[in-house]
Amino acid sequence: MKNLTTTLAGSLIAFAASLSAAQAEKLTFYCSAQEDWCQLMARSFEDATGIDVNMTRKSSGETFAQIRAESSNPKGDVWWGGTGDPHLQAAEEGLTMEYVSPMRDQLHDWAISQAESAGNKTIGIYSGALGYGYNSDLLAANSLPEPACWKDLLKPEYKGHVQMANPNSSGTAYTTLASMVQIFGEDDGFKFMKGLHSNINQYTKSGSAPIKAAGRGENTIGIVFMHDAVKQAVSGFPVKVVAPCEGTGYEIGSMSIIDGARNEEEAKKFYDWALSPEAQNLALEVNAFQVPSNKNAETSESAPDMSQIKLIDYDFKKYGSSDERKRLLQKWDEEVSVLPQ
Ligand code: G6P
Repeated sequence: MKNLTTTLAGSLIAFAASLSAAQAEKLTFYCSAQEDWCQLMARSFEDATGIDVNMTRKSSGETFAQIRAESSNPKGDVWWGGTGDPHLQAAEEGLTMEYVSPMRDQLHDWAISQAESAGNKTIGIYSGALGYGYNSDLLAANSLPEPACWKDLLKPEYKGHVQMANPNSSGTAYTTLASMVQIFGEDDGFKFMKGLHSNINQYTKSGSAPIKAAGRGENTIGIVFMHDAVKQAVSGFPVKVVAPCEGTGYEIGSMSIIDGARNEEEAKKFYDWALSPEAQNLALEVNAFQVPSNKNAETSESAPDMSQIKLIDYDFKKYGSSDERKRLLQKWDEEVSVLPQ
């Protein structure tokens, strides 16, 4: 009898524990910004709400591919960060859901137009201009000239000194490809990518890896968002930041709620919180120098001044459309990546 009572009590406790575990609020958070910023966002949201966060960091194109692969049985709830193009493609393909946040009226117009062009299935959280950075010590050690334009990167003396990410996995690299097509026209843009290919030492998976490698002295020039190069310089590495002379593209880093999210309410709470000035100011703690989308959030003095950079009129709608993104990536795979180096 005593044994039976003990067993019964034990089962009751286990049952109660499993009930409360089932009720604990949680959020599966897919993040495509810098790893340290992703970690900080996850922990700060947990602290602010008590919701348990399970965060995974993957590049923009990789996260898009994962959300698509999981679409019949979605595992993620919210996707925060990464370039806007794959967020727009996800919206078009019905992989993300419509949501209008009460925070929206605090945002810059560019963040709202990102939402409007996608039926409110995504929204802008930050912006940043594309460019490149170089390790000035390595440049000098190799007696290389200081590059200032996109076309400079084609010079034969830079062979083996340039690194960028693969545009299939990385939003940074896709922004590079789409920017070259917009700056030079499609034919010359692809000629540029082919010329660049001869100088590339490695295509990385993640967009910011090439400038981290430059900071460590393992690579000379990295094609990245300018704010990622500034982060290396501010961290004390000999990295110089370049806004290319021909003009350049930019990103509207975005956020979307995954269609069929298991924790939709928690995802909406995260979404509203991530648009607040307090959450956006966390960027400053990890040297993330993007321009925040909330008008009341702070922009660091170290952030590249977007008004001083020659920005192209990047066509987000076109280059974030499913057909165009697929077409350009396929063309890059077939005509550029296969060329000998
Ligand atoms: C870095 C940048 C972000 C950008 C992201 C894209 O983290 O700081 O502004 O959105 O790269 O990452 P990806 O790996 O997809 O190029």
